[in-house]
Formats: sequence, structure tokens, C-alpha cells
Amino acid sequence: MALFYTEEVIQEVVAANDIVDIVSGYVKLKRVGRGFVGICPFHNEKTPSFSVSQDKQLYHCFGCGAGGTVIQFIMSIEGLDFIEAVKFLAERAGIHLPEGNSDGDEARRFEKKQLALNINKEAAHFFHKCLMSDEGRYAREYLENRGIKPKTIISFGLGFSPNSWDALFKHLINCGYTVQDILDVGLIVENKNKNTYYDRFRNRIMFPIIDVRGNVVGFGGRVMGDSKPKYLNSPETIVFNKSRNLYGLNFAKNSKKNQLIVVEGYMDVISLHQNGIINTVASLGTALTPEQAKMIARFCSEVVIAYDSDEAGQAATIKGIEVLSEAGCKVKVLVLDEGKDPDEFIRSRGVERFEKAVKNSKSHIEYKIDLLKTKYDINDIEQKIAFVNAIAKIFAAVDNAVERDAYVKRISEKTGISSQAIFTEIEKIASKNSYKNKKNLKLKPVRPAESIPQKEYLIKTQKPESNVKLLNAEKMLLNLLCYDKSVFNAVKGMIGPKDFTYKVHAKMAEVIYDLREKGINFDAARLISMFEDEEVKQVTSILHMETFFDDNNDAAMELIDTIKKEKTMKGILSSLKEGNVEKLQALLIEYKGLQND
Ligand code: GTP
Ligand code: MN
Repeated sequence: MALFYTEEVIQEVVAANDIVDIVSGYVKLKRVGRGFVGICPFHNEKTPSFSVSQDKQLYHCFGCGAGGTVIQFIMSIEGLDFIEAVKFLAERAGIHLPEGNSDGDEARRFEKKQLALNINKEAAHFFHKCLMSDEGRYAREYLENRGIKPKTIISFGLGFSPNSWDALFKHLINCGYTVQDILDVGLIVENKNKNTYYDRFRNRIMFPIIDVRGNVVGFGGRVMGDSKPKYLNSPETIVFNKSRNLYGLNFAKNSKKNQLIVVEGYMDVISLHQNGIINTVASLGTALTPEQAKMIARFCSEVVIAYDSDEAGQAATIKGIEVLSEAGCKVKVLVLDEGKDPDEFIRSRGVERFEKAVKNSKSHIEYKIDLLKTKYDINDIEQKIAFVNAIAKIFAAVDNAVERDAYVKRISEKTGISSQAIFTEIEKIASKNSYKNKKNLKLKPVRPAESIPQKEYLIKTQKPESNVKLLNAEKMLLNLLCYDKSVFNAVKGMIGPKDFTYKVHAKMAEVIYDLREKGINFDAARLISMFEDEEVKQVTSILHMETFFDDNNDAAMELIDTIKKEKTMKGILSSLKEGNVEKLQALLIEYKGLQND
């Protein structure tokens, strides 16, 4: 892969950012033996399987397989590209980066992104200027009528797209951007019949969507009347991924509160921010995605969902509770009166009432119970039973026994059904669930606690169809080849890169052999920088292993032996399947020879 920055530059940046230091900014780490462990930020777990090695400057999660150097960590946790992550880390360490190399896929993608962001920024300026000019008078009035103050217009960069087919298009062409570039960011639309182009956003109030780093990644545009669609959003582009953005997070991240309020729309965010409630973000129409939930979980531990109380809002709330809980947040729900959204609420009732409502928001369990109550008539005996069954299902998921007791008592009082009967239902469900969990557990990789030998761990985590012995032998040999020069010298004549069965292994061996032959010193981070994104996890899992052999050279010999035997056995099996007698005979002789060695 053609690197944007030279390898030296990348290594300098990696070396200047200690991995334990970086990871500690996001994950609470605990020292265990020679390394550190914590709860993995990339998947949901309760017991730590995320491990960081300070010696090797690597992280690896035994649960989800995530892994790499500081660069991959920042890429994943900040949602950055490789180059962006290098810049991020360089800035943090105060390293001045030289100009990047401009060929290669990475560089092209990076430059395309920069271009898209520049066009968006220019468009945002244009829309804002239009709002402030004569032609924006009506739009300004519209915002004023909705209680938006001039200061808020500026801080959110609000704008107006003129009532014209090509005002923005012409402007951007004048700025020197090409038609294709403007098309790619979704600001214009092609009229295929006429082979012409027109502005996507016309005669709308414009809301620039700004990410946490201050980039304009897309736009939302609202009509000022009743025409449809009410809101129009930018399409997905190289810089705009709807499921990874939250409107208002650029401000909300500065809130000191350990709580975020999640609302539906642009106007809700703006209205609440204007009233000083800056810990508010909008999921923008669609229900919250797991990616959005993970982003939220990084900024706070408690979330209050404040969606509209209509049917769609309720469905989105239930979904939101699910994904946010999954991401590890404590979830509460603020139920607004019929037909009101947070913007309308705060405008008609004021900030204090809103803040009070936030304080009194329901736990997600309470919310679900109340929602169920509206769906059943508990005066009807059959519906009452169905109601209790549904409630029991919700309670079965409550871990805390005291909390569960309190809910059961309350429901019992309300329905006249004995607590005992409800508990019996809960137990039935809980025992079914725990059976399910147990079954799942078997399929999950076993955590390599200090006490579990590495070999055993590896064996348990492999897919059944792969040859575990062969796979593990190759992994351990590669690990030795990487960290022990004397092993390389001892075995290089006996096994070469082509002898490794698995593709990534062969590539790893090739890289290691090449560096060792040239006498270049390297470490794990350097090696990892030579692999493609999709290979990094596998390479890291190999480099992260700790091997404890009495004698590395002896161990390497044994591993080579295993590799040869297993490969021959593999050949024997396939020649059996093919019915290739000649090949079978030859291989059997070879196998015998190996066993006598
Ligand atoms: P106002 O009517 O301006 O107060 O908007 P709102 O924020 O109350 O809007 P609403 O509750 O109707 O919708 C919430 C969010 O859903 C909006 O902010 C938009 O992001 C999105 N949305 C609403 N209507 C549309 C639509 O017609 N098309 C698309 N793509 N998104 C919409
Ligand atoms: Mn609204």
C-alpha cells in the first residue's frame, strides 16, 4: 500500500503516543500481570476482555477481535481514516507533519474527503449569507416567529437556500469546483433527460450538520410552509454517514453533564440549546442506530430519550432503549404531553418546567410498563393475564433484585394480582433465558485469563472447520519469528513464507523475512503498518500473544514439525477425497518419514 506519510513519520507518531496513555483516555484500564485490561469499548461486555500491552504497544480484544496499534485504536474510537488518525495523534504529541505523498488510494480518499468538506463549508457560508441578505428576509421572519434568536442563527450556522434552480450550483462553479465534485457531495441533482443540473435544496431553511471536529458533513433543509417533504437531508456521501452522526453533538460534547438528552429533530436541539440545555442531540428522524448509541455512550453514561409522543415516537423510543442499553447506557424516558415535542414544550412552558420534567423522567422499565398499561384493559380477566405475562418479560430482564421487587409490588397493587404469581411468571421466563444464555456462552470465545494457557485459549476460539493445530502452530511460529531474531536465523533454511498455509500468515512471514534479511530492526507497530486495514486484526492477534517457552529455538523446531505434519495430513485427506491414489501413496510415505524424524 502506498503510504501517504513515510513509514518513519508514522513510526515517530506511534512512538510519541503511548498506547496505555491513549487508551486510558477512553477506557478504564487495570494492571494485570505485565499488561492492562479493561472493558472493551468496541463491543458490549460486562467482564473485561480488552487487553493492552505496553511492551508491545498493542491492544487486542479477546471478545470481539478488535486490535492494532494506537493508530487503529484512534481510527475505531474516533471514527477516523488512517491519515486522519495519524494527524490526530501527531497533533496530540505536538509533532509537525510534513506534506503527505499524494498518490495511493489512501491519499486519494483523504483528498476527496477534504474536497467534499471544503465544498460543504463553502455551501454553508453561501446559505448563511443568503439568509442574512435581502432575499432571506422571509426566512429570517420564519425563524424569528419560531423563537430563534439571531445569536442562535449564528452559532448553528443556519442558512437559507434561495428559491432558484441553480443559485448554489453557479456559486460553487464560480469557486472553481467541478460538476462531478458538487454532485458527489449531494448538493446538486442531475436531470438525466436534459443533461442539466439543479440545486437539491431550494427555498428552504438550511441546517448544516456539523460533526464533533467542526466539519460540515451534510445539510438538512426545512420548507417554510406545509409542502412536502418537510425536511430534506443530504444523501450519504464520502463525508456523511447518517448512522454515525448526531445533530448537536459538536456542542453537547462540551457539556459538563454526564447525561445526554436525545431528541428527534433539528428544531428541538436548537431550541433547547438556546435555552441553555446544551446536553442535547438529535438522532435525525430515523431511530437511533447502534453506531449513534456507541458515540453517545462515549460521552455520558445516562441518556434521556425525549421523542415525540406519537406512535412513531414510541416505536423509536423502544428501539432507542434497546440500542442504548446495549451500548451500556442507563436509559430514561421523558414523556411529553400528547402532540408536543421538546421545542414546543419549552416554548410554551419554559425552561424550569422542562428541566423538572427531565429530572422526573421515567426509568425505561417504568416507561415500558406504562406503555403496556395503555394497551391492555386490566378489568378484563384475559387481558389482565396477558398484561402480567408481558410485564413479567420486562421484569425478567432487570438484574437488580431490589429494583425488581419494587416494580413487582407496584404492579401487584395496581392489578390485584399477587406478587407471588408475578414472581412465578418471571422465574419461568428467567430460567428460559438463562438456558438460552448458557447455550450462547458455549459459542463465545473463552477469555484467556491468566490461568488459561495460551494454547488452550487459541484452540477454543478457532472455527471448527479450520485445522486448529496447523493454524495455531503457524501463529506461534510467526510470533517467535517476529520477536526473536535467533529463531529466524535457526529456521530460515527449514521453512519459507510460501510454506505457511493461511494467506495472512504467508504475507506476515514474507514481511518478516524481508525485514530480517535486510537486517532492519522492527517492532510490532512497524509490522502492523505494513498491512491493509482488514488484515490488521489478525496480525495483531498473533503479535499480541505472549509465548513462554523454555527455549524458543526448540519450540520453533517443534512448531515447524507440526506444520509439516498437519500440511501433509491435509494433503492426504484431500487426495483421499479426490481418489488420487498416486498422490496418496507419496504423501503417506512423506508422513511416515516425518513421524520417524
Ligand atoms: P419542526 O416541524 O420544524 O418543528 O420539525 P421537528 O423537528 O418537530 O420535525 P419532526 O418531529 O416532524 O421530525 C423530526 C425529524 O425527522 C426532523 O428534524 C428531520 O430530521 C426528520 N424529518 C421530518 N420530516 C422529514 C421528511 O419529510 N423527510 C426526511 N428525510 N426527514 C424528515
Ligand atoms: Mn417540532
